[in-house]
Amino acid sequence: MRQPLVAGNWKMNGSLASVRELLAGLKAGIAEVKVAEVAVCPPAVFIPEVQGQLSGTPISWGGQDLSVHESGAYTGEIAGSMLTDFGCKYVIIGHSERRTYHGETDQLVAEKFTAARKAGLVPLFCIGETQEEREGGITEEVVARQIDAVIEHCGVDMLGEGVIAYEPVWAIGTGLTASPEQAQDIHAFIRGRVAQNSAAVAEGLRILYGGSMKPDNAAELLAKADIDGGLIGGASLKAEDFLGICTAANE
Ligand code: 13P
Repeated sequence: MRQPLVAGNWKMNGSLASVRELLAGLKAGIAEVKVAEVAVCPPAVFIPEVQGQLSGTPISWGGQDLSVHESGAYTGEIAGSMLTDFGCKYVIIGHSERRTYHGETDQLVAEKFTAARKAGLVPLFCIGETQEEREGGITEEVVARQIDAVIEHCGVDMLGEGVIAYEPVWAIGTGLTASPEQAQDIHAFIRGRVAQNSAAVAEGLRILYGGSMKPDNAAELLAKADIDGGLIGGASLKAEDFLGICTAANE
């Protein structure tokens, strides 16, 4: 059985004061979450605060990105070992915002997958098609290419040490959600693609949905056979909303 994972991607939001308030709310409500594993991915500067507040709770935390390099003259970059130093379990890689605004290619994302594993981090590996690609009927082609890049570079066994997050770009921050059926179809396709390389890895792999997931649509999405949790943006910034999604996995 795959334990559902609900992870919050805070993106570039918050202040020390709002982070403290959010963490207090999460700690107060986490006992209601019976089934899902819960994680948060704050902006890097808040990670020490998150570690201080969440150590000893069931909530884990992670980074939003990492460098492909281990150390050295790479101004502004953060190494995987620095994330593990501050207790991170996860790191998001290949988010569409990094692919779009920072020019991250499939190849670079695959290198980041390896860098994360080398540092002992679990990659939350994001894939997904744009609106234009969906309308062009190439959704499956796009996600297959994104997955294959990691399998070719890292091998299917290493892919299986991570988590995939399917995030249709047109659903991110737009209020548009893939219908549970639409999402399930792609999740099943993704699992099938991995199964072409290893049935065992495909069976154990957690595939999260991301894109305007909210407390009122979470239960329907999470009920689908191949949807193993969520990667939550906007709704992860309010404790009540985020916990509402986490508890939707109780059923
Ligand atoms: P929203 O939940 O705000 O649509 O963002 C999803 C996302 O990009 C999570 O990584």
